[in-house]
Amino acid sequence: MLLGDIIGHAAKQFEKVGIDSAVADAELLAGHVLGLSRGGVQAACISGVEISTEEADQIFINYGRRQAREPLQHITGVAYFRNLELNVGSGVFIPRPETEFVAQLAINELLELDSPIAVDLGTGSGAIALAMATEVAGCKVFAVEKSPEALVYTQKNFEKYAGSNAQLADGDLSNCFPELNEKVSLVVSNPPYIPEQAIPRDPEVRLFDPAQALYGGADGMSVMHKVSATARRLLVPGGRLVVEHADSQGLQVCQLLLADGFSQVQSHQDLTGRDRAVTATK
Ligand SMILES: C[S@@+](CC[C@H](N)C(=O)[O-])C[C@H]1O[C@@H](n2cnc3c(N)ncnc32)[C@H](O)[C@@H]1O
Repeated sequence: MLLGDIIGHAAKQFEKVGIDSAVADAELLAGHVLGLSRGGVQAACISGVEISTEEADQIFINYGRRQAREPLQHITGVAYFRNLELNVGSGVFIPRPETEFVAQLAINELLELDSPIAVDLGTGSGAIALAMATEVAGCKVFAVEKSPEALVYTQKNFEKYAGSNAQLADGDLSNCFPELNEKVSLVVSNPPYIPEQAIPRDPEVRLFDPAQALYGGADGMSVMHKVSATARRLLVPGGRLVVEHADSQGLQVCQLLLADGFSQVQSHQDLTGRDRAVTATK
């Protein structure tokens, strides 16, 4: 069987079910089975490479899963975040490209400080925590996650990337790290913030991201309130908070942080110009 024919057929099927990145996904899933990069797959297609029946069968299984709108990252088991190749799968939130910019805001703050302490609330795969731990020399990072299903992946990613400067805790963010009260330089969080009734349209999100990672109560702000209170407890006076939020929530989040006593509350836009993060000072 010609690899190029298999990929061309799959891309058409993916398009029919509404997958935007149809060709890329068909190439990446074939590459996952064949041990090739996307460029390697494209080169193999151009040179008319044929694949074995066993390889084709495995690729077809992956294509069936993707056609049912299972996320690409669940099938390959990998999500890329900044310099990290994170282990992901069913039960853990797949880190998003927009969160790379939130991690950048946190990293920029930490790079200004001497031996800072950072805390990531609701760490999921460990994406933000491990980005800080690997990109900021001398930084101590603490991360908390309460979902046992997510923690399976968090632990693997911490084993892979965390040195002695990063520590993972299992539990609710509201009462995490009491030993760090008023000692933390920066708190960062990408909490669940979707209002309960605003069910996402994309099946990849609606059916496969864990509900605990998506929904933040009736107005989407319930976990944000907890993040704000926990940050007040953990931060040194003058310490900084960085939070991600939905593009419609900029004003709400600023008002919440001001009401909780934060100052220098500032909204930040992503590359498409949408409000996606707020920074503030205790
Ligand atoms: C939107 S996901 C973000 C995950 C990761 N920080 C990222 O940016 O990819 C929110 C995470 O917070 C966790 N979470 C929700 N409520 C929590 C709580 N009360 N305490 C600890 N973790 C919580 C969820 O299980 C989920 O992993």
